[in-house]
Amino acid sequence: MRLDQKVALVTGAARGLGRACAVALAAEGADVVLADVAGDVPGVPYPLGTASQLEHTARLCREHGVSVLVQQVDVRDRVRVDEVVAAAVERFGHLDVLINNAGIAAPSGRPVHEVTEADWSLMLDINLNGAWRMLSAVAPVMVAQRAGSIVNISSTAGLVGYRNFAGYVTAKHGLIGLTKAAALDLAPLKVRVNAVCPGSVRDSDWVEGRMLAAIADSLGIDAAEHEQIFAAEQPTNALVEPEDVAATTVWLASDESRQVTGSVVTVDGGFSTR
Ligand SMILES: NC(=O)c1ccc[n+]([C@@H]2O[C@H](COP(=O)([O-])OP(=O)(O)OC[C@H]3O[C@@H](n4cnc5c(N)ncnc54)[C@H](O)[C@@H]3O)[C@@H](O)[C@H]2O)c1
Repeated sequence: MRLDQKVALVTGAARGLGRACAVALAAEGADVVLADVAGDVPGVPYPLGTASQLEHTARLCREHGVSVLVQQVDVRDRVRVDEVVAAAVERFGHLDVLINNAGIAAPSGRPVHEVTEADWSLMLDINLNGAWRMLSAVAPVMVAQRAGSIVNISSTAGLVGYRNFAGYVTAKHGLIGLTKAAALDLAPLKVRVNAVCPGSVRDSDWVEGRMLAAIADSLGIDAAEHEQIFAAEQPTNALVEPEDVAATTVWLASDESRQVTGSVVTVDGGFSTR
């Protein structure tokens, strides 16, 4: 077991990549803290994860024999973020891994000069500030332990631009900057910080992912064909699977990557090499 004795907190764990990461971490022996807003957020034009989906992730993790703590939290809410980290430490006594995964794909789909103040602020507050809030709440615990691994789930949108997604692209580039700056601050204190940049991930049934469909909706792409359209953009001609991203986060969470910090790992079928 590569993560035996470790405790991992995963945000956005109700479904999608968060579920895939949580189950993969549990399969390697980590106890998990599963955090999600578990409800819709005004201004986000598609349904977010639900409490029953979060419970389902918990069940899938428990099947691996690990302990699970479920927490409802909106990563925009500083008070709740601090409470979740305190609850995790109270329950398990330590916190070794943070997977900063919670995120939204929309409101998007407009050119930059037509984005509203409200839509811009919402995107940045969840996808960038939310990740910083989680990191800043967890880091003191890890610094006190002189051990920890933080993984920020960015995107190929953290490496290149996409038309009509300025807010998302800005937030995901910001996550790369946060990763590098935090890695330098925390390296002497034995805490590692890395980023993972997935390409287009298939909305796989078992994780009930929604992001590719939400991006397709924002761009007005035909719902029935959207997976083929996104796959055609990747040099491998295939969408990334949630398990591909999860396996990378397990490696970054584990001591196998102990000399890896400040790194940006792409899992994108070669998309960003072009
Ligand atoms: N799916 C892809 O193709 C893809 C590609 C690159 C990067 N990503 C990134 O991966 C992460 C997960 O995406 P996904 O595809 O699993 O999406 P998803 O919509 O299926 O899942 C996202 C989860 O985050 C939760 N969430 C949203 N806002 C929240 C908030 N304010 N507080 C707490 N939880 C919140 C949702 O409830 C949901 O359960 C995101 O950061 C996304 O930007 C996804």
